[in-house]
Amino acid sequence: MGMKVLVIGSGAREHAIATTLLEGGSVEEVTVAPGNPGMRRDGILTTQLNPSNHAALIDFVRDNAYDWVFVGPEVPLMEGIVDDFAAAGIRAFGPTKAAAQIEGSKDFAKQLMERHGIPTASYRTFDELEEAERYVRDHGAPIVVKADGLAAGKGVTVAMDADAALKALEDIFLGHRFGAAGAKVVIEDYLEGQEFSLMSFVDGTRFWTMPVSQDHKRALDGDKGPNTGGMGAYSPVPQIGADVVDAAVETIVRPAVQAMSEEGYPFVGVLYAGLIATADGPKVIEFNARLGDPETEVVLPRLASDLGAAIDAILDGRDPVFTWKDSGATLGVVLASDGYPTNVVKGARVPDIPVRDGEHVYYAGVATGDDGGLVASSGRVLFVQTHGDDIASAQKRAYEILDSVDTTGMFYRHDIGAKALASLR
Ligand code: AMP
Ligand code: GLY
Repeated sequence: MGMKVLVIGSGAREHAIATTLLEGGSVEEVTVAPGNPGMRRDGILTTQLNPSNHAALIDFVRDNAYDWVFVGPEVPLMEGIVDDFAAAGIRAFGPTKAAAQIEGSKDFAKQLMERHGIPTASYRTFDELEEAERYVRDHGAPIVVKADGLAAGKGVTVAMDADAALKALEDIFLGHRFGAAGAKVVIEDYLEGQEFSLMSFVDGTRFWTMPVSQDHKRALDGDKGPNTGGMGAYSPVPQIGADVVDAAVETIVRPAVQAMSEEGYPFVGVLYAGLIATADGPKVIEFNARLGDPETEVVLPRLASDLGAAIDAILDGRDPVFTWKDSGATLGVVLASDGYPTNVVKGARVPDIPVRDGEHVYYAGVATGDDGGLVASSGRVLFVQTHGDDIASAQKRAYEILDSVDTTGMFYRHDIGAKALASLR
């Protein structure tokens, strides 16, 4: 009998986690709470439970005898879902509330990095407008303003001139744009270089890195438009050399895992390092306490070994096995509702997307329409993941697919992977 697993979350990331678990072999049944109706097309079960209702989730896991739980998104982690499961005797893969602070509080993350010499942009924290304004005036631009706490990727302003930074500060302190998250602000130096994501499975003291990937955070082609949750991704990232990845592992991932263990909040789960390859080596932009979205949707398809068996091993204190496909490339493009991320127009009809073996459609913001088909129910609707011998061929397939379907009421970027292709020219 294979294992039964509950995945917490509802997006394309959770669809990819569930699919990868099922493809691995040792997991035979996956339920996603709350999931979405698109996932059900792939034989994934869903249950209408709210990730914040820990008591109901605990009952559900017990009643249905799940082997363990995989927590996808950050919010339940920061609410202590792993601690609550543990107190109920349920194994859950993800960090405790204490360890999840590495994502939940920029100030916590920055202080940890400072104590342990982990390279990151230098920064200062302010809880008062006037002082923050003075710092920006003294320091000049480019400069980066971040609301402390969670603001769903929208709490960051990369200001290329001082006025933009001052406006961001006013929005945070006077406009209360980010609620409680705006009580504190981190102002940091601008880092110049290519951005990449390095995620690792961590068991508290040891870690297993995944292939690197690159997200596309801006809404529009050419990195124009507002920051979003991510519009596309690819893996590997040929313009980031193995020497840079090795440096990131040794100067960032290893000391971070060790520091958290030594300081009494060992990290179990996926540690996501958002990095910039600067002229002085890789530096941290942010840590996340979970798999990245959309990076997961291009990284997990490159796993050659059994994900469920590996997570089960980590949760039992055994040695997990992770092996990755070492050739070829994966790429994927987000199909989003018109107006995303600022004025989302929901309700577009979601077309059937024709994919081949090894390609996937991972659903996110979809609901069941009156005629039983899928309709767009939020900003990011779905993710089309392809693969090829290289990024150029994976990119060609992704746009062949998207260009062949009716995307009325939705849009997508046309240049996912362009930076990798430019670097190879
Ligand atoms: P974050 O929410 O911290 O990931 O920031 C959102 C985006 O802002 C990042 O993906 C980067 O593109 C950019 N960013 C954040 N911090 C910096 C920095 N110190 N220097 C340059 N760009 C940054
Ligand atoms: N792709 C960035 C994130 O997951 O935070």
